[in-house]
Amino acid sequence: MSIEVEPHPEFAGIYFTKLDDGVKRITTKNFSPGRTVYGERLVTYNGIEYRIWDPFRSKLAAAILKGIRKMPLGPGQRVLYLGAASGTTASHVSDIVGKDGCVYCVEFSPRSIRDLIDNVCKYRSNMIPILADARSPRSYASIVLGKIDGIYCDIAQPEQARILLDNVRLFLKKGGWALIAVKARSIDVTKEPVEIYEREAKILEEGGLRILEMINLEPYDKAHSMISSYYPLN
Ligand SMILES: C[S@@+](CC[C@H](N)C(=O)[O-])C[C@H]1O[C@@H](n2cnc3c(N)ncnc32)[C@H](O)[C@@H]1O
Repeated sequence: MSIEVEPHPEFAGIYFTKLDDGVKRITTKNFSPGRTVYGERLVTYNGIEYRIWDPFRSKLAAAILKGIRKMPLGPGQRVLYLGAASGTTASHVSDIVGKDGCVYCVEFSPRSIRDLIDNVCKYRSNMIPILADARSPRSYASIVLGKIDGIYCDIAQPEQARILLDNVRLFLKKGGWALIAVKARSIDVTKEPVEIYEREAKILEEGGLRILEMINLEPYDKAHSMISSYYPLN
């Protein structure tokens, strides 16, 4: 089998991998070699193992393939991840931040967090599972020590913009980034998705974030968008 791997031209920690079929896929370096998280394919190139990142399973991968202009996430960062579920995307975030970074994984479903611990965090020293409700950030303030570099929010809740802002105020450093996956149907089924994305962006702006871009995630995710923002220095 012939494989080619090349670093993404701009985004550190992300790679393009071409397999036999000639299709370019995005990949990350496996922090836990030999182990898959969600059945994704592993490929080895020049002695390094990479995990194929599925954009139909991960909205962050979809946002990258849909051409997000700036990827704020990078090696060595400390990231707060709201809605980690069983770790599909969070494990790729762990690959990207690497051994010098850390991913605090907040999840309120006991079943999902059990899977996250047993199948993922146990094998990844840079992931810290937190069984908690993202609506109560003070409940995990004793675990997330110091200010963090970025927050990734994917909790599919009607109040998610407000929940993100409460976490931003408590944990995010000035100049830090926030990415939020917006599922239009979890917010209001009667409105056009684009109206909902704009409304969410307005809530974030009014709460003190600056919007960088809004990426429509179709065809990977129907009626979803990713809003990328940052917390201004002043
Ligand atoms: C769409 S799934 C996340 C998928 C995941 N981000 C991925 O890409 O692998 C949403 C997750 O958020 C969790 N969730 C929803 N509301 C939450 C809350 N208030 N606090 C913590 N977790 C929450 C759900 O239990 C679910 O696991």
